[in-house]
Parts: sequence; C-alpha cells; structure tokens
Amino acid sequence: MSADRYYMYNDNAFKLGLFGANCSSGRAINKLPERWLADWDSCEKMAKLADEGGFDFILPIGRWKGYGGETDFQGTTYETITWATGLLAHTKQITVFGTVHAPLFNPMVAAKQMVTADHVGHGRFGLNIVVGWNEPEFQMSGIKQRDHGDRYEYAEEWISAIKRMWNDKEPFDFDEEYLQLKNVVAKPKLHADTSPLIINAGQSSVGRAFAMRHCHAFFTNFREADVKKSAEFVAKFKSDAKELGRDVNVYTQGHVVCRPTRKEAEDYFHYLTTEGVDFAAIKEVLRLKNVTPENTPDYDELVANLPPKNVGYPIIGSPDDVAEKFARMHSAGLSGIAFSLVNYVDELPFIIDEVIPRLEKMGIRKPAAQNEAVA
Ligand SMILES: Cc1cc2nc3c(=O)[nH]c(=O)nc-3n(C[C@H](O)[C@H](O)[C@H](O)COP(=O)(O)O)c2cc1C
Repeated sequence: MSADRYYMYNDNAFKLGLFGANCSSGRAINKLPERWLADWDSCEKMAKLADEGGFDFILPIGRWKGYGGETDFQGTTYETITWATGLLAHTKQITVFGTVHAPLFNPMVAAKQMVTADHVGHGRFGLNIVVGWNEPEFQMSGIKQRDHGDRYEYAEEWISAIKRMWNDKEPFDFDEEYLQLKNVVAKPKLHADTSPLIINAGQSSVGRAFAMRHCHAFFTNFREADVKKSAEFVAKFKSDAKELGRDVNVYTQGHVVCRPTRKEAEDYFHYLTTEGVDFAAIKEVLRLKNVTPENTPDYDELVANLPPKNVGYPIIGSPDDVAEKFARMHSAGLSGIAFSLVNYVDELPFIIDEVIPRLEKMGIRKPAAQNEAVA
C-alpha cells in the first residue's frame, strides 16, 4: 500500500475532517433556521472551502431513512459514493470517503463504483465500511439484517472480494460462506494501483477486531476527562494491530462550535442544545435503540441531557480553546478528528482562518505548501 494514500496526501500529525455533511442537519439534531440542509450546491461549496483551507478529509454518513421529528432529522441524504464522486471532481487535494453499508451493496457493483470515484479523484477516494444497525433502513431495502457477529463475518468476505477485484489481474472465483462469485474480472484497477484508505467505526469487540484486520484507521470516542485512559486505549489498539502485522491509526469524532470568544461559543452551544433541539427526533433515535419511557426510569432526564451527546463529543470555545482540545487529542495518540458543524459553509472560514494556523504553530499541522504533494 502506498504511504501516499495512508497519509491522506500529507504529513499532518493531526488530520482534520468534516463529518456528516451529506445529511440534512448534519449530526446535530436541531431545528435552527441556519441548520444544514445538505443541498448539492452547499455541499460543493463546503468541499471547496475545506479543500482550499487545508482540511484532510470529508466523511459522510451512510443513512437511508430520516428519524422523523419536526425536521425529519437526516431525512434528506445523498448516497455517499456518488456524493464523493461529485465532490472529488470539484476538489484537488482532499480525500473524500464513501460510507458504504456492506450488506446493502453488491460487491461487484460497489468495487466498480469505488474505482470510478477513485479515478475521478485521481486516488483520493476513501472507504468507510459500515455493517448497519438501523432496522427500518433494512426493512426498506428488502434485505434482512444479520445477527451482530454475522454482520462482520459478511463484511469480511465483502471487503476481501472487493480487494481482489481491485488487485487481481487474472479472473478469479470467490467461494466462501456468504459470497459465491464466479470468474470475476474487474477493470480498470484503482488509481496508480494503490489502495484507498479504509476505515471502520465498530465499537463492539467484533467490530474492533474487524478494523484491526482490514482497515487503515479506526474511530473511537475521546474521553477528555481522562486523556490518559484515551491514550492507553489508542496505544493498546495500535499495538494489538501491530501484532497482526498491521499499522492502524486511531481517529475520533466530535462537533465543533468555534466563535471569537469562549462565551459566544458557549452561548451558541446552549442555544443549540436547548431551544434549538428537535426533541421529537431525539426520541425517535432513542426508540430505534430500544430506549423508551416504559423501559427507562429516568427517560425525561436522559432526553434533556442527550443533545450534547447527540452531536458527538462537543468541542466548544474560542480558537485557542478548540486548538487546545485538538492538541490534547493529538497527545493521546489520536491521528485526527472528523467533526460536524451546524452549518458547514457558514462556520468553516473562521475555523480555517483561526484554528488551523494555531495548530500549525503548535507543530501538529504543516502549512499546506509544506506538505508533500502526491503525483
Ligand atoms: C465515526 C463513526 C461513523 C459512523 N458512521 C456510520 C454510518 O454512516 N452509518 C451507520 O449505519 N453507522 C455508522 N456508525 C456506526 C458504526 O459503524 C457501528 O455500527 C457502531 O459504532 C456500533 O458498533 P458495532 O457495529 O461494533 O456494534 C458510525 C460510528 C462512528 C463512531
């Protein structure tokens, strides 16, 4: 595998990515007038800003059905491989992922779709493999959801078959438990015969084991209150992967509110997580995870306290605060973060102008011009 792919085209020690912009409302369950609508022109603007501003990657969410509520949270979503292909055509350096549900995509079709995206981006496509959890999405597809462990066994066959389609020069048969494919050919091959960055965010032990065997990067939650614990987790994950002969980086995810002062950021976050919340959608998300007023004694308290968690790990503050939090993540051994914003186009320029230069000063990112360009 080419190091160029692995490092997402540069040697930034702490990579920055945008998460969830293919979905309406992004990842914050909100009903604010400025919320993200995920229309194509806004997505294109977001990608160009991120690309020109030195961001390393864009990570979409594989979502097929909205969660209802007042806004039908994440009810409007672009399919991610086609979305990535469009964005790759409009950008120059940034890596754009597809978030692909292994059980929903025939591997022969998916392999070729991804090669197409990779050629459009001259080698900048990345793959986030998900196995799915949301039953209504499966019901809508007519495909039956497998038991939890079997989902990853299937994904293992799925990605193994796809890797062969990407790499094998001769026709091959693939005869395993779930997939029986005959006389398989696939051309063209990936850009420059390299592999896309493959990531996964399974949190269970089978999910983690899958990531260790098949992925170049894994996503975990960051525990700010106990940086040491996060650092231990990252170190253990990487050393376990090393024992399997693999280098796997660990990333995290979050939601950023960055404003000129800490007070302005906290006020906005308060607004977002109180009057801005689409509570009906939150209750739907919980119901899908089988959390109901009937089976949860402190349900109301849970709902009231959920918004921050529902936007992922919150990174709220002035540019100094945000840069400091990123530096803390870096010090825990994390290789980067994928984060969401309430409105990606409105909020990105300030982060690019104010946070990125601070990270460069701290030495955990390099000015774009100093990064190794890839042929
Ligand atoms: C950063 C991140 C991105 C994820 N993206 C998606 C996604 O787009 N679609 C999806 O169905 N699940 C997504 N998930 C869920 C995971 O793929 C996984 O199913 C979940 O963490 C539960 O882990 P498990 O499958 O090991 O039980 C994501 C999780 C994280 C932490």
